[in-house]
Amino acid sequence: EKRMKHVMQEAHTFVSRLYHYVLTKTPYGAEAMKYLAKRGMSEATIAEYQIGFAPDSWDFVTQQLTKRGFSQELMVEAGLLARSDAGKIFDRFRGRIMFPIQDSQGNAIGFGGRLLQGSKHNSNQKSQPKYLNSPESLLFNKSATLFNLHRARPIIRKRKEALLFEGYVDVISAWQAGFTQGIATLGTALTEQQARILRRNTESVVLCYDGDAAGQEATSKAIHVLQQAGLIVRVAPLPQGVDPDDYIRQHGAEAFSQQVLLQAMPITAFRLKHLRSQFVIKDETDKARLIAKAVEIINELGSPVERDMYQRQLAEEYSLTLGDLKWESKRAYNQQ
Ligand code: CTP
Ligand code: MN
Ligand code: MN
Ligand code: MN
Ligand code: MN
Repeated sequence: EKRMKHVMQEAHTFVSRLYHYVLTKTPYGAEAMKYLAKRGMSEATIAEYQIGFAPDSWDFVTQQLTKRGFSQELMVEAGLLARSDAGKIFDRFRGRIMFPIQDSQGNAIGFGGRLLQGSKHNSNQKSQPKYLNSPESLLFNKSATLFNLHRARPIIRKRKEALLFEGYVDVISAWQAGFTQGIATLGTALTEQQARILRRNTESVVLCYDGDAAGQEATSKAIHVLQQAGLIVRVAPLPQGVDPDDYIRQHGAEAFSQQVLLQAMPITAFRLKHLRSQFVIKDETDKARLIAKAVEIINELGSPVERDMYQRQLAEEYSLTLGDLKWESKRAYNQQ
């Protein structure tokens, strides 16, 4: 098993170099190169992340791996190749920009592959997912891996804080802009295991997910998992419909630092904001319902000082007396 793992890893190292070569040094990568440049990705970044391109071919990687003596059987298991129902072996990644995924030591263990938008190749791309990731394997355990951790770990430890993003591109874009403590999950929800890995490296995490409904939902779930692992969590606010990469490209690094990261909210503030966004207030009944929910959120705080601060804010926001709000809060608490 150890031997198999070793060979799978060698294959990943080889294939990531191959994809990177195709992207940067051959005509097959020209369109992808143009696309990345248009997205503001520098050559230094492409080199640092060994970003690559999987040509739109059924057997390019199959042939290269076979020529070097890698067993097709094992390469299917590693997720570099695939097998059709009829038993035919073919390249799993075709016509995609390739983001190598490394373990915490920096060994290549998997790929995230993004469709090249508007590619004239890959004629059936409409039916394909935007991102295709390597499957779970002996080598690649998604729930125990964080993208970019091997690069970010020293910075995370030094700053005692990690930035958690949704996408590879967000991590890379932030890195290019000088925010080098970024990591991301691998297209799956944050797991307990990933949270524990983070906890071993830092006390505090800033959640920086996309500014859309999916991002908000994922944020709520991640908050829970991170808190369970004993991490202090804050949430960085992004404008509606904008993800960190979009933001950095539109507004630059300075604005991202000032308007997003420095505005990161404690989770109670985030949950109260999320609550307000879910309510349409038409009359006093709606308002009372919202306040009751807000009181519940505030009551979950362990610290009486913090509770008091949020109660004061809430009272002011909805023109209530602090006395009434405290009374309501106590009543809710006793009803639990
Ligand atoms: N993802 C996935 N499968 C998909 C879509 C998304 O696994 N079909 C995962 C990927 O890990 C991706 C992350 O979810 O990095 C975030 O998705 P999304 O916001 O849609 O992509 P972006 O990172 O914003 O990529 P881009 O800017 O290139 O559209
Ligand atoms: Mn998204
Ligand atoms: Mn996104
Ligand atoms: Mn997008
Ligand atoms: Mn994006």
